[in-house]
Amino acid sequence: MNYNEFTIEIKKICNIDLSSYKEKQMKRRIESLMKRNGHDSYNTYIELLKNSKQHLNEFLNYITINVSEFFRNPAQWLVLEQEIIPELLKNKSKLKIWSSACSTGEEPYSLAMLLHKMMITNKIEIIASDIDKDAVEKAKQGIYTAKAIANVPGEMVRAYFIKEKDDYIIKDQIKKMVDFRILNLLEDKFPNDCDLILCRNVMIYFTEDTKEKLYKKFYNALSNGGIFFVGSTEQILMPHKYGFINRKSFFYQRIID
Ligand SMILES: C[S@@+](CC[C@H](N)C(=O)[O-])C[C@H]1O[C@@H](n2cnc3c(N)ncnc32)[C@H](O)[C@@H]1O
Repeated sequence: MNYNEFTIEIKKICNIDLSSYKEKQMKRRIESLMKRNGHDSYNTYIELLKNSKQHLNEFLNYITINVSEFFRNPAQWLVLEQEIIPELLKNKSKLKIWSSACSTGEEPYSLAMLLHKMMITNKIEIIASDIDKDAVEKAKQGIYTAKAIANVPGEMVRAYFIKEKDDYIIKDQIKKMVDFRILNLLEDKFPNDCDLILCRNVMIYFTEDTKEKLYKKFYNALSNGGIFFVGSTEQILMPHKYGFINRKSFFYQRIID
């Protein structure tokens, strides 16, 4: 069995289309995990994945790369707070926001804390989704280490976390602002009429073809004038091609019809 055949089997087992991810990088990761489990052929490894839920889970966790941070790239969050959100609120009384690859929750909770601090909690709805069930489960629990919250400003830590031994737990007032879901960007229907979509640090893993398809899906998921917020290495090369204009670095606006 070669890599392509392996991707077809994986699609059958768990509906994840590995061929949409950059091949070199994904292949390297999978082969290193295979070796770690004592397998050097896709044939025997796929049998292991078919027969062991535990190894399938390990495989899914490994390929999804859940690294995240609160307020990742702080300068961009300042633009969001000072320019993007106030501008969106000029035209709408309620905002629908979607964190579309939310991992273990740092990104949607950063949003919720920011909007709480800005005192606009009654004017927003936050949806947060990821393909990885375990990551979403962790996000719902909202328990973080001191290292994980290092980027969170002191006054926010005091206001929005409860310290329990070595852990920091997100308070319920912030937790209940976020509606967590499982959603595979490659297969599932997107929410619609979103005013702000965050899709950060996941596009880098996809092939160019897949990126194109996803930009179109994100365009359709946005409201007129809605904003698409991308990761710091994920600028869109020709935003007009997808119906976007570049408002600020890393912020694209759906062109108003
Ligand atoms: C590196 S994390 C980024 C987390 C967060 N957005 C940030 O920037 O800190 C990438 C996330 O994308 C998710 N992901 C990968 N493929 C996906 C897919 N097809 N659909 C939805 N999420 C996916 C992974 O599970 C992982 O949690």
